[in-house]
Amino acid sequence: MILVAGGSGRLGTLLVRRLVSRGAPVRVLTRSRARAAHLNHTLVEIVEGDVRVASDVQRAVDGAAVVVSAVHGFAGPGGVSPASVDRDGNRHLVDAAARTGATVILMSVVGAAADSPMELFRMKYAAEQHLRARGTPWTIVRSSAFLELWIALMSETMDRAGRVMVFGRGDNPINFVSVNDVAALVDRVIADSSARGQTVEIGGPENLTLTQLAAAIQSAGPAVAPRHIPRAALTAMSVILRPFWPERAREGAAAVALDTMDLRFDPSAIRARYPDQSLTPLSDVLARRVQVS
Ligand SMILES: NC(=O)c1ccc[n+]([C@@H]2O[C@H](COP(=O)([O-])OP(=O)(O)OC[C@H]3O[C@@H](n4cnc5c(N)ncnc54)[C@H](OP(=O)(O)O)[C@@H]3O)[C@@H](O)[C@H]2O)c1
Repeated sequence: MILVAGGSGRLGTLLVRRLVSRGAPVRVLTRSRARAAHLNHTLVEIVEGDVRVASDVQRAVDGAAVVVSAVHGFAGPGGVSPASVDRDGNRHLVDAAARTGATVILMSVVGAAADSPMELFRMKYAAEQHLRARGTPWTIVRSSAFLELWIALMSETMDRAGRVMVFGRGDNPINFVSVNDVAALVDRVIADSSARGQTVEIGGPENLTLTQLAAAIQSAGPAVAPRHIPRAALTAMSVILRPFWPERAREGAAAVALDTMDLRFDPSAIRARYPDQSLTPLSDVLARRVQVS
């Protein structure tokens, strides 16, 4: 049995479909059955529970040989936070897996570090460290930013003139990877015992600025410059909103980090490790999106 915590999410859904298609028994942990309604419930066992509640997690993990954590608390419903989900929720998953000797595949982020300016990156690192210390078999998959998520987020900001919103100056190169490619990698490391005890990093073939991404998204319409939210406004948002709207404050802080941190990635190590690993360029992801819509 493979438990996918976060199996209802963007990455988790793609992973669950892959696992089901190769006949693996799959269980999904979700806070609400309705959030996993798009999954085939005759082929996927659904367990309702919250990773912030240790007893929910133990119930979901019991009987699983592999536990995949594809959860995050950066945003989303239920008052989640990186501390409560990415650090403490993952701690619950790891501890429950360690009790039964299950293998843990932990989704993390490229750049996870104790001293990162991004809270999410610090909490992911804390989860990684807990997993490394716990002694149950493990693989950590660190990914750069999901291209499809950013295309969707930026497309939602498009105004009537076809202009996309860019947070900050938008001139900082950022690595983006197709979530399909990440799902393929997670599926692969579940089966690859040589990946145990290792941290595998995946990023896409291009480092792109948000301005370049905006231009690519806008390319179907008239050639117009994107709208920029000034960095000072994002900084103010991250400070002023913190006491009463922490999620929006986090987004402001993350936007500043995206505009300033070194978020480039060199995919040569993942290419060397798995030469047939797909790393889809932006143009192909956009073309696929047009075909689907
Ligand atoms: N998005 C990116 O750019 C990116 C980049 C690098 C790494 N990652 C990592 O990849 C993984 C998947 O990301 P994603 O963007 O695909 O996520 P997503 O679509 O936003 O889905 C988040 C998932 O987390 C689950 N979740 C959140 N809080 C939970 C809680 N308290 N208890 C149980 N489940 C909870 C949600 O389940 P329910 O709502 O059904 O309960 C949902 O399935 C995450 O670990 C993320 O950190 C993402």
